Amino acid sequence: MDMFDLIVIGGGPGGYLAAERAAQGGLKVCLFEKRALGGVCLNEGCIPTKTLLNSAKLYRHATESRNFGVTAENVLFNHAQVIKRKAKVVRTLVAGVGMTMTANKVNVVKAAATICGREADKFKVEAEGNTYLADRLIIACGSEAVVPPIPGVKEGVESGFVTTNREILEMTELPRELAVIGGGVIGLEMACYFASVGVKVTVIEMMNKIAGPTDSDICKVLMDEYAKRGMVFKLSAKVLSVKPGFVVYEDAEGQHELPCDKVLLSVGRRAATRNVGLETIGVEMNRGAIVTDDKMETNVPNVYAVGDCNGKIMLAHTAYREAEVAVNNILGRKDRVNYNSIPSVIYTDPEVASVGDTKEAAQKKGIKVKEVNVPMTYAGRYVAEVDQGRGFCKIVLDEDKNRIVGVHLVGSYASEMILSAAMMVDSELPPERIKQFVFPHPTVCEVIREAIFKL
Ligand code: NAI
Repeated sequence: MDMFDLIVIGGGPGGYLAAERAAQGGLKVCLFEKRALGGVCLNEGCIPTKTLLNSAKLYRHATESRNFGVTAENVLFNHAQVIKRKAKVVRTLVAGVGMTMTANKVNVVKAAATICGREADKFKVEAEGNTYLADRLIIACGSEAVVPPIPGVKEGVESGFVTTNREILEMTELPRELAVIGGGVIGLEMACYFASVGVKVTVIEMMNKIAGPTDSDICKVLMDEYAKRGMVFKLSAKVLSVKPGFVVYEDAEGQHELPCDKVLLSVGRRAATRNVGLETIGVEMNRGAIVTDDKMETNVPNVYAVGDCNGKIMLAHTAYREAEVAVNNILGRKDRVNYNSIPSVIYTDPEVASVGDTKEAAQKKGIKVKEVNVPMTYAGRYVAEVDQGRGFCKIVLDEDKNRIVGVHLVGSYASEMILSAAMMVDSELPPERIKQFVFPHPTVCEVIREAIFKL
């Protein structure tokens, strides 16, 4: 029977970073992963989709750069090669995580772990017939795609006609017509890839807007840009059933059949907490997600939950921060997650990035709001690099407290610029102080400075 200071269940960003930091802090750590180290992020989420989207961007640059003085003939797009390269990128990064675990002397067990109550004052975990004991647990068991009970979906998944984020990344042939059910982050990123390389894409979204809580003006820009690439949006549309070769949906105009040769199901994710044995130690749950506070503590002393499994904000970088906070608290260093300043990015083309509240969200909280909106064309580099770009930067100010509570960007480099905005929101610096910062010129980031001066 093996004894540890800490057992971590799940080897995604939350789990592997927790294991690494805890080992660096002097704890004897055991990490369990039933699939591949790196979790959804490295294997079937963040990283693979970014390899695909970069290939699509290169293709678009090669085919649509006449204005910039670049013409190329016979540009071909090889989806199978894109998938092959993606696999190599994933292999490299997964191996990197493995090496980091070894370097930090984390004991990695490649098996499904189940919590089986307690033995004396320790937590008992079993995997493949072996028993492991630990003083503390960090649960980082992640999330899984929601498969709704729509008639035909289950059969479609079984036949391969319906895919989730996992299967679509293994597909080596491009479909001719792709139906995307759900216009959230996964749906939009994948729709962007496929539409950019010539696939006819239709997005069916239940709500009257895409991209969930994203600023409505940003959503309009995205929809217009996508429409130029032939993408069709069916909003306020309800999927009734999926049948081989088409999706049946209903909107205000009635019932329709959408022909397609592949369906992507991207209607959300839920905490993957089944079969982990959480009930054997009495962990409090809320609709399948583990209830935690901002110190990542559960209701059970010495049991923490980080990443998607706590259902708070399902983003890899949230999991990273939560992992560090959990480990810091275990090591006696007080720490909390500030959920108000976590940036989010949609890696479409144009990119979308935001942090904090939109104007509407802030108003709903009763905040006295001032909002400014500055086009990215205020930044020389943007004009130099982008023709007819409609990018912009919105800043939301809490007038009473004189601090920035939200920044919303659409356009080139938004993903790389959002960190500076997140630091402004997190540090609660007054705009007068931010005006003293020097922004490098020419960078697109200067649009944030322009917006601050307009507050
Ligand atoms: P999501 O919650 O972002 O979007 C799901 C969408 O599907 C919503 O707009 C919802 O209204 C719609 N929907 C639900 N049921 C429907 C139905 N029956 N018919 C039509 N539409 C329906 O979920 P998504 O895109 O699956 O992403 C899951 C998680 O992964 C999210 O938490 C997201 O933040 C994360 N993620 C983050 C990325 C990033 O940071 N760039 C990239 C991809 C995913």
